[in-house]
Amino acid sequence: ELGYINGRFVGLDELVLPIDERGHQFGDGVYEVIRFYDGKPFMLEEHLERLIRSAKAIKLPVKESLADFTELIISAVEKSEIKNCNVYLQITRGIATRNHLFPDAPVSITMTVRHANPIPNEKREKGVDAITHPDERWANCYIKSLNLLPNILAKQTAFEQGCHEAILIKDGYITEGTSSNVYIVQGGEIITTPLTNQILPGITRMAVKKLASELNIPFVEKHFTTAELMEADEIFITSTTAEVLAIVKVDGNIIGSGTPGEVVTRLHQQFQKMVE
Ligand code: PDD
Repeated sequence: ELGYINGRFVGLDELVLPIDERGHQFGDGVYEVIRFYDGKPFMLEEHLERLIRSAKAIKLPVKESLADFTELIISAVEKSEIKNCNVYLQITRGIATRNHLFPDAPVSITMTVRHANPIPNEKREKGVDAITHPDERWANCYIKSLNLLPNILAKQTAFEQGCHEAILIKDGYITEGTSSNVYIVQGGEIITTPLTNQILPGITRMAVKKLASELNIPFVEKHFTTAELMEADEIFITSTTAEVLAIVKVDGNIIGSGTPGEVVTRLHQQFQKMVE
């Protein structure tokens, strides 16, 4: 496994940043998680477009182009010799004496390349459980920012109840998961929250929208309530690390048949063909 810090490849234990680094002190940065399957990146360009959008949204003066990031990431993965890995790339407003105002410092780019940790087959076959949780995040969740405190608190609460994910609720409507997008299947249609500032535009969501169209399954982007969630035929989540994963129980209520449904199963099969 491999680290990268501002132009240098290092061992993970050497990937150390000073306390006066704005990622630590303010969460003043953005990040991406990109999956490589058998040495090939999955939708790298889309991830990097989102990274550059996130950076722009928080006024990070990033000099690197999409092509520069592509080269950097590909070379890191080659150097790591890990064919199935997750790349974590983080950009912050750099290192400077603590002050809320933007520093006159170069941005800091760090990266790790680690073995992918795929969802175990058993979880995939049986599906996983979730809780609902208030969405306590800020108004700009379309930015993939380092500020994840509400996300990790909700995820930990889910874990302590034996659940895989917390589904976040704002004003009675589902926004997304703590680190995933959320979908229901009702009457043969996939329904998911529309892309607003309240959710992250998932790259896996983009892939699933395309797969649904290939499979002739309607993909409807509209808000849905907690009641609709509970009464859904199927629920699933998507993310770079979970891919397409069935949720079979929410707050102790069994969803549909209590096992992964037909739509999520077909979508995941189709997804696997994409990454083979
Ligand atoms: N999380 N919503 C949130 C809040 C997320 O953090 C993520 C991803 C997603 C799914 O996005 P994508 O399909 O592009 O991975 C949705 C990453 C994996 C993480 O923080 O580890």
